[in-house]
Amino acid sequence: MNTLFFDIRDPENSMDAVRQAAELLQKGEVVAMPTETVYGLAANAFDREAVAKIFVAKGRPQDNPLIVHIADVNDLYLLASEVPETALKLAEKFWPGPLTMILPKKERVPDVVSGGLPTVAVRMPSHKGANALIRAAGVPLAAPSANISGFPSPTEMRHVADDMQGRIAAVCDGGNCGFGVESTVISLATEVPTLLRPGSITKEQLESVLGEVLVDNAVLHPLKEGETVSSPGMKYRHYAPKAKITIVRGDANAFHAFMKEEDHKTDFALCFEEDVPFMPKNYVTFGSENDPLSQTNRLFEALRELDERGAERVWAREPSTEGVGLAVCNRLYRAAGFQFVTRRAYVIGVTGATGAGKSTLCRYFKES
Ligand code: TXA
Ligand code: MG
Repeated sequence: MNTLFFDIRDPENSMDAVRQAAELLQKGEVVAMPTETVYGLAANAFDREAVAKIFVAKGRPQDNPLIVHIADVNDLYLLASEVPETALKLAEKFWPGPLTMILPKKERVPDVVSGGLPTVAVRMPSHKGANALIRAAGVPLAAPSANISGFPSPTEMRHVADDMQGRIAAVCDGGNCGFGVESTVISLATEVPTLLRPGSITKEQLESVLGEVLVDNAVLHPLKEGETVSSPGMKYRHYAPKAKITIVRGDANAFHAFMKEEDHKTDFALCFEEDVPFMPKNYVTFGSENDPLSQTNRLFEALRELDERGAERVWAREPSTEGVGLAVCNRLYRAAGFQFVTRRAYVIGVTGATGAGKSTLCRYFKES
């Protein structure tokens, strides 16, 4: 298939390109669209056959449901059979933006969209290009992330082209995606609202509107044999580059010492900018240690970069799980297939006198 490219980085001044992409959507084709989180592979949510093409293009398992994107809060009523007060409160505070709500679905939402579940996932993106495209298409757009299933989500047009050229009708270039990790997913179809996937809208922000919010066990833990999942996407291998990643648990000093060990000198480090002076020859950074938004922005790009540079063995710094950090850990743990080693620093002495010349001597022990 010949894939067309449209530049909609400035959608107000590229309405012709937006219109052409929207026409393809109306004809039942799949078009990659930019959003503020990651690029999505969009099709008319009410057109079964069009949505089925998304699954083919991505190689996505049929039971993994899609998020439906709207451009107007009122379009919630086209998709959800019940819209609770809490949904409207969340929409008022966080839409348009990176928040997806799971609600009971209307019958007209095809099973191919909901993966056969009685619920539908809905979000209203804030990206101007996405907004223009949804409005021009005149229908809600079902869209998963625009990567081949199992690979890191695309945050730039170049990533989408790498994965999707020749597989879909068109790609719309909307520039770099600001947040860089997918939307926060909250289920309002459970008794207590439940966070199914963390994103840049945090659990604490949701609690400020909803009160108690539960965190699904699959957010930070691998599934046990036979365990059922609330969000089918959590079952599958995810975000994984070809390189084998292991997360090194321990502080910055422990990580620096770890990377200097003879066995690791030729491996790659996936580290924070602050770690760079202590790293071996091969490293890729993913943001700054105390700035989780810089980490979300860089993580998927960093994972792709590791593959481009031919990394085979990668050791990663572990981010904090606080606030937006929960989203970073959720993606990184999956990219690493939940593989960890632990290194702790034990103080074994102090050199020099007191004051500026003083430094602590540490030794690092393997724990696993
Ligand atoms: O930021 C985003 O959300 C991006 C952009 C393109 O909007 N989209 C995205 O879609 O990340 P996808 O398909 O990669 O992830 C959707 C997640 C999956 O984990 C899926 O299982 C879950 O949402 N999901 C969708 N519908 C659901 C439902 N009815 N119940 C539970 N989980 C659902
Ligand atoms: Mg995805």
